[in-house]
Amino acid sequence: MTEPVGSGGENYMHGHHPVVVDEHARRSAERNAAYLLPQLRPGMSLLDIGCGPGSITAGLANAVAPGRTVGVDSSRAAVERAVADAESAGLANIEYKTADAYGLPFSDGSFDVAHMHQLLQHLSDPALAVQEALRVLAPGGVFGVTEVDWGTAAFWPRTPETDRFLAIYNAVARKNGGDPEMGRRLRSLLEPLGLDRFEVRASVWSFGDAGATGQWGDLWSARIQESNIATTATDAGIATAEELIEIAATLRAWGRTPGAFFTLTHGEALAWK
Ligand SMILES: C[S@@+](CC[C@H](N)C(=O)[O-])C[C@H]1O[C@@H](n2cnc3c(N)ncnc32)[C@H](O)[C@@H]1O
Repeated sequence: MTEPVGSGGENYMHGHHPVVVDEHARRSAERNAAYLLPQLRPGMSLLDIGCGPGSITAGLANAVAPGRTVGVDSSRAAVERAVADAESAGLANIEYKTADAYGLPFSDGSFDVAHMHQLLQHLSDPALAVQEALRVLAPGGVFGVTEVDWGTAAFWPRTPETDRFLAIYNAVARKNGGDPEMGRRLRSLLEPLGLDRFEVRASVWSFGDAGATGQWGDLWSARIQESNIATTATDAGIATAEELIEIAATLRAWGRTPGAFFTLTHGEALAWK
């Protein structure tokens, strides 16, 4: 499914194919927002921007319950999935809306907490989205943001095909107006804003056993053939369909290679308004 998102007419590079959304739906607040959880208290109001299918949002909502949690995403498909999952989990303090990170439908100072996980990397104007998140945050509120840095991706074994996969991924991300190395830019986005206080760190995703590398290899094998990455790569002349099939096979085989290992660093920041 290809959906236009963002006020700049940007295209979300992954699209919302089930292979993409199902992977996002396996994320959790405990794994993907552990740095933010100690800041949360029952009764706080929380906004998750670019919430996708809402599996991280749901964990954050539990941490602030009975406080109100709102998840927003520019994709209707993602919001529909988030609503369905919240209903089946019986979460009472959570609501979802379709909305653009560049123009949030909330008045100034509406939330105690604002959160983004892997959103800024897809935006051509990340500074505007950060400014908008801070606008809807109440004075003294906390902003938590996590962004991947694909420039840190490390495959072992490293082969010409794993290098080519990363080159194609990066070229498609940039073609869509994003920055796949956004993780390293968080300090530079926050520092000029005159915030009360902020902290920037990093965390690392690692895939270090046969189950994890098998799943990661299969995931990217599917995504490079079936998600919007494939159509952008072929339409823009970044790769041919035949090359994507070859790389997909290599990624599947990589995941099953004895001793395979993969890491990916994320920048993580907390900022207080
Ligand atoms: C990589 S996914 C992350 C989803 C979720 N935060 C997670 O980590 O599971 C990025 C999400 O940002 C959304 N998105 C992209 N551009 C957006 C925009 N301008 N405003 C709001 N959401 C946007 C996409 O639809 C997608 O669901």
